[in-house]
Amino acid sequence: MAAGSVGELRRQALEAIDAAMDLEAVQAARTTWLGRKGPIVDALRSIKDRPPEERRDLGLELNRLRDELEAILSEREGSLEEENLRRRLVDERVDVTLPGRPRAIGGPHPLRMAEAELVRVLRKIGFSIVEGPEVESEYLNFEALNIPEDHPAREMQDTFYLRDLPGLLLRTHTSPVQVRAMRASAPNPLRVICPGRVYRRDDDVTHSPVFHQIEGLAVGEGIGMHHLKATLYEFARQLFGADVPLRLRPSYFPFTEPSTELDVGCPFCHGQGCRVCKGSGWIEVLGSGMVHPHVLREGGYDPERFTGFAFGLGIERTAMLRYGIDDVRLLYLGDLRFLTQFQGSEA
Ligand code: PHE
Repeated sequence: MAAGSVGELRRQALEAIDAAMDLEAVQAARTTWLGRKGPIVDALRSIKDRPPEERRDLGLELNRLRDELEAILSEREGSLEEENLRRRLVDERVDVTLPGRPRAIGGPHPLRMAEAELVRVLRKIGFSIVEGPEVESEYLNFEALNIPEDHPAREMQDTFYLRDLPGLLLRTHTSPVQVRAMRASAPNPLRVICPGRVYRRDDDVTHSPVFHQIEGLAVGEGIGMHHLKATLYEFARQLFGADVPLRLRPSYFPFTEPSTELDVGCPFCHGQGCRVCKGSGWIEVLGSGMVHPHVLREGGYDPERFTGFAFGLGIERTAMLRYGIDDVRLLYLGDLRFLTQFQGSEA
């Protein structure tokens, strides 16, 4: 390299760096001018071919030039990086003052709330939960519960039979789970509740073809009517309040003997008589009774040794009583104006 050409090298390098408008171009200029194959390294390498008296000054000049370019490049890179960052902060700015997108928050359905409350109270009394299938055998739904083929109770509980699966139907009540639970536990004592969906050929203001029940069953040695009454009264008081008027009235079910129904004083008119209680001042909440020996036998218990009581109630009915709902269909229509009234009223 001829003396004085370091100045020329410098001029060219400064011009190239000046022309580099963005970070990539500046980095490319760095590779070109300061890289291992660049002209400065090249020139430094060829110093040894120079006459000895030139070597020192040429080396000094080249090193100075390298340091100068290095400083200029770093400076340019730094400011371009900063500028890039600034631009991104502007381009990608998030306006934290914009209102958020509202999310609709759901809540439990009043039917579910009533079910949860029933289950809570009954578990506290000592019952545990079991479940049975909604598609049930005709046998467990009827025969095992002492309702033979020609029994009039079958007509009151007409249901949906499965055309291609003879012997199966959509259960008309949760009582078949009684037999299932007994068969799973006999000869041990048991105390279970069975919540679930049931089906009947009914459809009017107070009846839906699909509705929900909870069955209760206790089987053991020495269980009597007094246990039935005490349990149901405790249950009703927990559910409807300690002061609610209660009455246990004789009734009839094929699978219990004797059979009883529990009435509560009408919460709408406080016993005065109104449309809801049809003027009687009382509302029926559940069917119950001492488990019929036929049913105990079907469940695998010796009715000479074991006795038990059972009860069954509609969850819709309970929800209507608890929340003052006068049309069962409101529970199925999914009308938010109705449903949102219950949010937050119970856990
Ligand atoms: N299974 C009866 C019904 O659906 C209710 C009931 C259950 C009655 C248990 C007595 C004992 O009407």
